[in-house]
Amino acid sequence: MNIKNRQVFSTTLNEKVHIIEISNNFLTVEFSNYGAMITKLIINKHNLDLIVGCNSMEEYILQDKFFGATIGRYANRIEKGKFKLNSKEYEVSINEPPNHLHGGFNGFHKKLWSFEIENSSIIFSYFSKNMEEGFPGNLEIKVKYTLIENQLSIEYFGLSDEDTILNLTNHSYFNLNGEGVGDIKNHTIKIASEKYTEMNKNNIPNGNLIDVSNTPLDFQKPISIEEMFLKENILLDYDHNFLLKNSENIKASAYSPLTKIKLDLYTDYPCMQFFTASNLKDFKGKSNYSNFSAFCFEPQYAPNSINIKSFVQPILKKGKKYSHFIKYIFSL
Ligand code: BGC
Repeated sequence: MNIKNRQVFSTTLNEKVHIIEISNNFLTVEFSNYGAMITKLIINKHNLDLIVGCNSMEEYILQDKFFGATIGRYANRIEKGKFKLNSKEYEVSINEPPNHLHGGFNGFHKKLWSFEIENSSIIFSYFSKNMEEGFPGNLEIKVKYTLIENQLSIEYFGLSDEDTILNLTNHSYFNLNGEGVGDIKNHTIKIASEKYTEMNKNNIPNGNLIDVSNTPLDFQKPISIEEMFLKENILLDYDHNFLLKNSENIKASAYSPLTKIKLDLYTDYPCMQFFTASNLKDFKGKSNYSNFSAFCFEPQYAPNSINIKSFVQPILKKGKKYSHFIKYIFSL
C-alpha cells in the first residue's frame, strides 16, 4: 500500500485542495477532498486510467458534470424541488429548472471535505447544516473508500438530528477501454433488473415500473450497446433508473472486449441509474469527449422517490444511522 498526499491551490476557491493517491499492486486510485471524489483509477498492469474526467483540479472545480463526485443530499431529481416529510412541506434548490438535481447548486460535490487516512482507506467527513440547500436536519456524513487488491469499496454513513431525506451516490464516469479510447458502445453491459422507472419529459419517474423485456433496456443477459442497437434498431442515450433484483449479488457489470477489463458492481441500494454521458458532447477534459465516452453506474434510491409512496423511501429518521455501500471489483 502506497499513499501520497499533495495540495494544490485553487484560485477559484481561494483555498488549498488535497489530492490523495492510494495504490496497491493492482490499482492506483486518486481522490480529492473537493467533492470527496475519485479523479483517477488506474489498472497498474495496463497503466490505463479508466476514469473520464479533467486534467487539473481547477478544471474539476469549474465543470458541472459531477465527475467522480459524492452526490448528496439527494442523487438525481426531486420534482419541482418539493417534498413532504412528517406533513411539513420542504422546498429545496431548483438547480435544473423545474427540478432539483444532485444536491443543488452547492451540493456535496462542491464541498471541501475533511479526511483521514486509515490503513488502506480514506474517510471523508462533512457536516451539512440544517436547511442547507433546503433540506432539514443537521447531518453528519462520512464516505469511506477502501482499496483491497482489485476492489474499491465505498461506504456511506449519515446521522441527522431531525428526520430528513438522504440519497448518496458516486458519480464516476468509466471507460473500460481506458479514458479517451473510443467510446463505450463496445462494452458488454449486464444489469440485474427486470424493471425500470418510466419517466416524464423532465426525467421524473411517474411511479410506473416497466418490464424491460423486449425493450432496449433489457440488460438481463450481457449485451453490448452496439448489439442492442442492431437488435432493437434504436440507439438510446441511456439515462434510466433500474430497479435492482434482490436475488443477485452482482447488480451490474461492464466489460471491454478491447482491454478485457471487467467491472462488477455490488451494492445494497434498491436502484441504479445507468447513464451513458450524453452531457459530455464536445467536452474537453483529459481527452476530447462525446456522448458514449463513458458510462455511469449510480446506485441510489429511485429519482423523486420521496414523492412516490410506492417506491422505497429515502427517509433517514432522526438519530438512526444511514448506511449503504457500493463496491467495484475489477478483473482482467
Ligand atoms: C443523471 C442525468 C444528468 C447527469 C448530470 C445523471 O446522474 O441521471 O440525467 O444529466 O447525471 O451529470
